[in-house]
Amino acid sequence: MPKKLEIKWFESTDSTNNRALEESANAPDRFTWAADFQTAGRGQRGNKWLSKAGENLMFSTIFKPDFISAQEQFAISQICTLGLHNYLKNKGVESKIKWPNDIYVAERKICGILIENAVTGDKLSQSICGIGLNINQKKFPDNLPNPTSMVLEKELAAGRNKKSHISFDTHKELPVLLKEIFKVYNAAKKEYTKTGEFKKLTKNYLSVLYRIGEFHMYEDLTAGGKKIEAKIAGIDSSACLVLENKKGERKSFAFKEVNYVL
Ligand code: BTN
Repeated sequence: MPKKLEIKWFESTDSTNNRALEESANAPDRFTWAADFQTAGRGQRGNKWLSKAGENLMFSTIFKPDFISAQEQFAISQICTLGLHNYLKNKGVESKIKWPNDIYVAERKICGILIENAVTGDKLSQSICGIGLNINQKKFPDNLPNPTSMVLEKELAAGRNKKSHISFDTHKELPVLLKEIFKVYNAAKKEYTKTGEFKKLTKNYLSVLYRIGEFHMYEDLTAGGKKIEAKIAGIDSSACLVLENKKGERKSFAFKEVNYVL
């Protein structure tokens, strides 16, 4: 029997990740806090996450996985991003996962994820996955480099001049999206229980990875931002991005050690 979805909606809150952190001790696995508006939405690298009231999905789901070790905590990123990818695919939007956990449509960012993990001993005791998916928003602040939304992508696919009146009901979309994420979560749990590995999960993640195998420019932040031309060769066992230059030399980068030149 699939588990009943448990969602607490806020008209407005500072950040759904904050609500989740506050209530995490008593929350069951997969409990979700969602908001129509966040007054202090948090992004990666200390950035703010801005989103128009009522237009997009902003939510945080807590996972209390008994099968993921501290060392393998990147599995949670892979699960969430693949669930998002699958949901968008079902909606007719072809996306890629930009390592570690952004979702892109072509060169445009449609979704950001802020994951806050807690480790007890060698286990991932809880993971709060804060997801901001742009659904209906069509206008974004000028300082955001390349944002997009499901509606903008639908309009683009239909031809720019055709003004569509497509819109999605965010409250109806959240359960649909959560089901896709939980499907991947269940499959990963099954795989791990059977094999002790996440081979299939990783294979699926790599199969939709943004820029995999193509040469592009990157900034090596471990070398003062030096520009390098390289291709993504994969992800190593520490979830670092492995870049390979044209001489076949490889180097692994942790999250804050590399920038994509877009
Ligand atoms: C990023 O910088 O790309 C990550 C953005 C994550 C935003 C989501 S919106 C719901 C949850 N609550 C927050 O404050 N942040 C995350």
